[in-house]
Amino acid sequence: MALKLAVLPGDGTGPEVVREAMKVLQAVAKAERFQFTDDEFDFGGERYLSSGHIIDDQDIAKLRTYDAILLGAIGHPRVKPGILEKGLLLRLRFALDQYINLRPVKLYPGVECPLKDKGPEHVNFDVIRENTEDLYCGNGGILRQGTQQEVATQEMIATRFGAERCLRYAFDFCRRKKAEGRGKGQLTLVHKTNVLTFCGDLWFRAFEEIGDADYPDIKRDYNHVDACCMWFVKNPEFYDTIVVPNMFGDIITDLGAMIQGGMGIAAGGNINPDKGGVSMYEPIGGSAPKYTGKNVINPLAAIGAVAMLLQNTTDASGQWPYRKAGDRVENAIKKVTPKLKTLAAGKMGYSTTQVGDLVCEAL
Ligand code: IPM
Ligand code: MG
Repeated sequence: MALKLAVLPGDGTGPEVVREAMKVLQAVAKAERFQFTDDEFDFGGERYLSSGHIIDDQDIAKLRTYDAILLGAIGHPRVKPGILEKGLLLRLRFALDQYINLRPVKLYPGVECPLKDKGPEHVNFDVIRENTEDLYCGNGGILRQGTQQEVATQEMIATRFGAERCLRYAFDFCRRKKAEGRGKGQLTLVHKTNVLTFCGDLWFRAFEEIGDADYPDIKRDYNHVDACCMWFVKNPEFYDTIVVPNMFGDIITDLGAMIQGGMGIAAGGNINPDKGGVSMYEPIGGSAPKYTGKNVINPLAAIGAVAMLLQNTTDASGQWPYRKAGDRVENAIKKVTPKLKTLAAGKMGYSTTQVGDLVCEAL
């Protein structure tokens, strides 16, 4: 059966990086002998500006019929911040119940790390960010807006159900890494239990209970989020797998992206691991309007998103049929990074399309 993909190139440099990612997908499909189909959707800033349409229930029903989604970037200079983020990206994450946001933090060979004396052997861990709850639920409101007595609230939501399904995914993920010799079986929960004594407590108790009951082989570790930021810089090699609620996960994964060399390389997956779930993979950087159409943006993050898509897409029996192909793409990226001068747009020493070609050759 062919892998059925929905492709959402989106705004700005999204289409340019997606083009390279699809080129690599085509090359690896040929080499690994699997079939795929891809349908493109034009959701994003341009369509919104010309028609007012962002995405609706019908679109989402259609997207549910795919095996996976590849997203380029969203964000348009002429669209007020928040509209596309909430209306498209967050809408999809919530509607498709992509409750895991998997963000590997890996420093590839030859990539300059801003941390002194740290190399690929030091920066290599995975962040599993809860992706459907917390401050992202949008619970709250504004009262007496525009007056001196204005009141605004935005509530942090934690549910046992939401924390538990994310924690179980993280424990399983960590266990699988250890079994495959890619990790030491250590799961770090990141929260702020010293201040967030309700939400943090719920997460911490769930972590302890689930760990004791079902994952005695996994070493549990806990960091406050502020201390975690410090350790990312000081001792990134300590980490194996991190599990974190949505808002803190958003913040620490930007820091994570920087210590792995920047947004040019950082990819992530919005994953619904349940049977029949549809996941969406994306470069985690933005639409970079100032580089649009110049053929200078780095496509490696989008290519990394394809690698993740292949590595994480499951079949009906819960197995990973494209994993070898995904690993092959990741290994090809590792062969290309040492050739680039830097990962930054316009300073790679190669154009966007040339970097795509290099990855295809390295496959
Ligand atoms: C991310 C982004 C999004 C988030 C924004 C664009 C809504 O920062 O994917 O990390 O906050 O999750
Ligand atoms: Mg973010």
